Amino acid sequence: MIKVGVNGYGTIGKRVADAVRAQPDMKLVGVAKTRPNYEAEAAVRKGYPLYAAIPEKSDAFRNAGIDLAGEIDDLVMQSDVVVDCTPSGIGEQNRELYRRYDTRALFQGGESADAVDASFNARANYDVARNDDVQFVRVVSCNTTGLSRLMAPLDEAFGVEKARITLIRRGGDPADASRGPINDILPDPVTVPSHHGPDVNTILPDLNIDTVGVKVPATLMHLHSVNVTLSEAPSVDEVRDLLHEESRLFLVPDIAGIGGTGQLKEFAMDTGRPRGDLWENCIWDESLSVEDNDLYLFQSIHQESDVIPENVDAIRAIMDAADQQESMEKTDENLGVGLESVFGGVRKRITPRNADD
Ligand SMILES: NC(=O)c1ccc[n+]([C@@H]2O[C@H](COP(=O)([O-])OP(=O)(O)OC[C@H]3O[C@@H](n4cnc5c(N)ncnc54)[C@H](OP(=O)(O)O)[C@@H]3O)[C@@H](O)[C@H]2O)c1
Repeated sequence: MIKVGVNGYGTIGKRVADAVRAQPDMKLVGVAKTRPNYEAEAAVRKGYPLYAAIPEKSDAFRNAGIDLAGEIDDLVMQSDVVVDCTPSGIGEQNRELYRRYDTRALFQGGESADAVDASFNARANYDVARNDDVQFVRVVSCNTTGLSRLMAPLDEAFGVEKARITLIRRGGDPADASRGPINDILPDPVTVPSHHGPDVNTILPDLNIDTVGVKVPATLMHLHSVNVTLSEAPSVDEVRDLLHEESRLFLVPDIAGIGGTGQLKEFAMDTGRPRGDLWENCIWDESLSVEDNDLYLFQSIHQESDVIPENVDAIRAIMDAADQQESMEKTDENLGVGLESVFGGVRKRITPRNADD
């Protein structure tokens, strides 16, 4: 049983905690927060032991009537792995804490690649974390995760000569009141190419990829406009068959009438996904198109949740508790990853399960 602590219980941390609880080979030791707000109440209602992330602020929990299981040092000491889900930059500062107890730690995409021993994506480079010398691993950002999942199989099957991606990025997460309201379309970053391509290269170092970023007034998901020049010129059906084999890629069938990210999220909620989460890249089947050696497609990435299965796999990888295939299959089975449409007999459907089950 792998003992897991979660430090930082916001958008990513609360989902990681639920996903860990859904794994029979893992035990959630507890979660750490800085203050007794509504998310602290939700953690208590779920029965998660709650730890004070900043010991000097412990009294605030007591004054609010919330019983703490301890302070952050107690959580780190008891954990085999801490999943650090604190805001960008804080994880790096926490490395000393994890070193003190010789505890392995996973960080998120907001941390710099230089702050860790390895950057991780389950599909593309799982084994990088299975090394005794590795204590700190970064699960790359939502966009980098989505791109790595797509590029790895394309490169293996057809060879990628050049990938050019426009990332149309959501302005903020739905609960992120500090980012809005906005009414604009921003080149972001305005410098070209954007930092996303080099971030993909922390996972796939030899991939020739250029990215540009735009931010729009939306909260639900990102949209990637993808153009990949391949070494071989496959048919659209060959590309479709390849992508169908990947459990974390969902080909959105045209007959479903899903026209955008709003309807994708509605589909996720209607089919019982916890929080309406879409752990898979959502690729519009109709957008698949091949012109000579150039493949084009649109994919949407649910920024709040696509990294969650990757965090679960990174826990097994850093503990060397399973190989890539075994871990990804377990994670998919335990969470219900592998959303598929029943329409058109596309593939058999895995019924999504609530991560809290
Ligand atoms: N949201 C996304 O779309 C997304 C996607 C992929 C990766 N990421 C990455 O995941 C990481 C976390 O992002 P997030 O979106 O989950 O942020 P978030 O929603 O702001 O959650 C982080 C939480 O950490 C808590 N916190 C603040 N200071 C802390 C400290 N010193 N110690 C422990 N906890 C502290 C805050 O809650 P309290 O102060 O109330 O305790 C906050 O709610 C970042 O690296 C981000 O780049 C985010």
